[in-house]
Amino acid sequence: TLFTLQLHLLAGTLFNLQAHLISLNDGIKYIEEDIKEQYHPKHHADVEGFTLTGVTLAKDNRTILNNINGQLMSGVNIISGKSGAGKTTLINILLGLEESHTGTALYRGHRISEALTEHILSEVSVAPQKPVLVSGTLEDNLLYGADDVCQNRLKEIVELLGFTRQGTDADALLATVIDVAGSGLSGGERQRIAIGRAILRDKPTLILDEPTAALDERTAHKIVEWLALHTRNLIIVTHDEKLKKKYGIKIELNETTADSVQV
Ligand SMILES: Nc1ncnc2c1ncn2[C@@H]1O[C@H](COP(=O)(O)OP(=O)(O)OP(=O)(O)O)[C@@H](O)[C@H]1O
Ligand SMILES: [Mg+2]
Repeated sequence: TLFTLQLHLLAGTLFNLQAHLISLNDGIKYIEEDIKEQYHPKHHADVEGFTLTGVTLAKDNRTILNNINGQLMSGVNIISGKSGAGKTTLINILLGLEESHTGTALYRGHRISEALTEHILSEVSVAPQKPVLVSGTLEDNLLYGADDVCQNRLKEIVELLGFTRQGTDADALLATVIDVAGSGLSGGERQRIAIGRAILRDKPTLILDEPTAALDERTAHKIVEWLALHTRNLIIVTHDEKLKKKYGIKIELNETTADSVQV
């Protein structure tokens, strides 16, 4: 009797252990589901763009962004504001590169954080304010970060960016070696390379940080008009009065007073 009692106890313990393992497994599965959910915003294809609610950011005891609200959806979205008003900082928030803000910043309904950056960058391409060049030719620089670009597309973009002058052979132009230190390039040329690179990454959302700053007005407006037709969601940070008038301002950042907002 004593012997079977021990066996009964052992069987009961094993049974409990198995039950614990099953619930533990379920628990882990749910945690994994949560993580997968966070990394796959495509599950919510009905929600698009960026949504900002009360986004506030302070650095070194100084408020850089104060209560920013707005939605950046399909079409052309202009973000405007004086120099130092926090425009580039706001772009960093959109990409999950600046996490220390309060309020809510969502990308396609998902809270933006560093964990989401890789995903955001798989759907969003950015032409930064300070472009970085790589050593190589103009073609290497334009194709940096892009996949499967055909030569015709590449030449179309080179033409759009105004690199081809009359009589220049596009192939020879693309083979031009870029001086990485940049001494042989103007600010506008660097900026056009950054814009071309962002276009050739071929993502549904394109963010341009001050694309018009170093370009002549005609070239800048031609590029923006083309992009407005060819990009699903275009976000442009600019001071340009004509662009603001033409497309309206989605988010206006104000340096001194409480930052505001318009949707
Ligand atoms: N990492 C940081 N630490 C402290 N202050 C910062 C940091 N990044 C930016 N700032 C400050 O935040 C403010 C906004 O900078 P930001 O570059 O976002 O402005 P901006 O609107 O893009 O300006 P510009 O039109 O000149 O490009 C500036 O005063 C800047 O000095
Ligand atoms: Mg800036």
